[in-house]
Amino acid sequence: MQKRQFLNTVACAALALTAGNALAQDKFKIGLILPMTGPFASTGKQIEAAARLYMAQNGATVAGKKVELIVKDDTSAPDVTKRIAQELVVNDKVQVLAGFGLTPLALATAPLATQSKTPMVVMAAATSSITQASPFVVRTSFTLPQAAVAIADWAPNNGIRKAVTLVSDYGPGIDAEKFFKDRFTFNGGQVVDSLRVPMRNPDFAPFLQKVRDLKPDAVYVFVPSGAGAALMKQFAERGMDKAGIRLIGTGDITDDDILNSMGDVAMGVVTSHHYSTSHASALNKKFVAAFEKANPGMRPNFMAVGGYDGMRVIYEAAKATKGAGGEPLLNAMKGQIFESPRGPMFIDAQTRDVVHNIYIRKVERVNGQLYNQEFATLTDVKDPGKAK
Ligand code: PHB
Repeated sequence: MQKRQFLNTVACAALALTAGNALAQDKFKIGLILPMTGPFASTGKQIEAAARLYMAQNGATVAGKKVELIVKDDTSAPDVTKRIAQELVVNDKVQVLAGFGLTPLALATAPLATQSKTPMVVMAAATSSITQASPFVVRTSFTLPQAAVAIADWAPNNGIRKAVTLVSDYGPGIDAEKFFKDRFTFNGGQVVDSLRVPMRNPDFAPFLQKVRDLKPDAVYVFVPSGAGAALMKQFAERGMDKAGIRLIGTGDITDDDILNSMGDVAMGVVTSHHYSTSHASALNKKFVAAFEKANPGMRPNFMAVGGYDGMRVIYEAAKATKGAGGEPLLNAMKGQIFESPRGPMFIDAQTRDVVHNIYIRKVERVNGQLYNQEFATLTDVKDPGKAK
């Protein structure tokens, strides 16, 4: 046996053993890995706040075990996420890994979840293929194809025949582009150009200039949560709205976390997404009020809901398995069906992916504040990316 191969085998055996040891603990440990600093810190802050709210509301013990939430900052660097995940599994002996603010961070950790048989709850990342990267992945966020297809159906019925797509150049952006383009074209629309901007520190100006020159009816945009404000600012500065080019996209662009600071340029922007702070259900009103009370000045966005629902899935699975980790815990996550602040949702037992409603929303001012006001609903949307 080669030395490297041998070391690998030893490492795998150690991981498998540690997963077993988790059973004997009197604590139920959740390793929550998030970008808490850097350009995607808003995602980490939202998810941590929501996870803590869930614990405050549902008690800090589950199946007689004290729940310990271990929050770690991965600074949105995939190698750091992976290293932290390994430490959490081997040293802290967590029963479950959770968080994952961006697709590359989830993909970097998936092989470790498989080797160590540790369930991995993806609360933020949204590229379709993530659930296929490990049989231990369960997702409570959303998928870009779910949102993209919905707005591609809405647009051609609402005066948009010619569109340009503008997406962040990585997993979720590629999904957002492909699924919009295929569906929009199928519906008789025309995508005249597809532009991809760098994921980190993007300068949107040259891309927006290109869009202006092409004069489409609309520009369809995906940028990850946290990047929408910069895009909106440059959209306004270039006078795109005044040039008659409409802005549409998945709801990541009108992120509730920062929407209020975007100002008039955001007014009337139509997007598709699974969650809006203003979702009109009793459960959501309660959730928003409790979140805002516990976190003054913050508004829960779709990241917060992914975290809150992820905690629900973990707690209920832990109750069902009396605090065990590993495969029993994973199996108890599959098929869970419940009401989320976003509306009804379930974890598809076959794909381990989230199934939920997608809403078409328009930015409006309500009591002096900007909100994504839902006006149409597609019910029980499965990930279209899984049909392939
Ligand atoms: C992702 O990296 O998968 C991701 C991040 C932020 C979003 C959506 C997707 O808003």
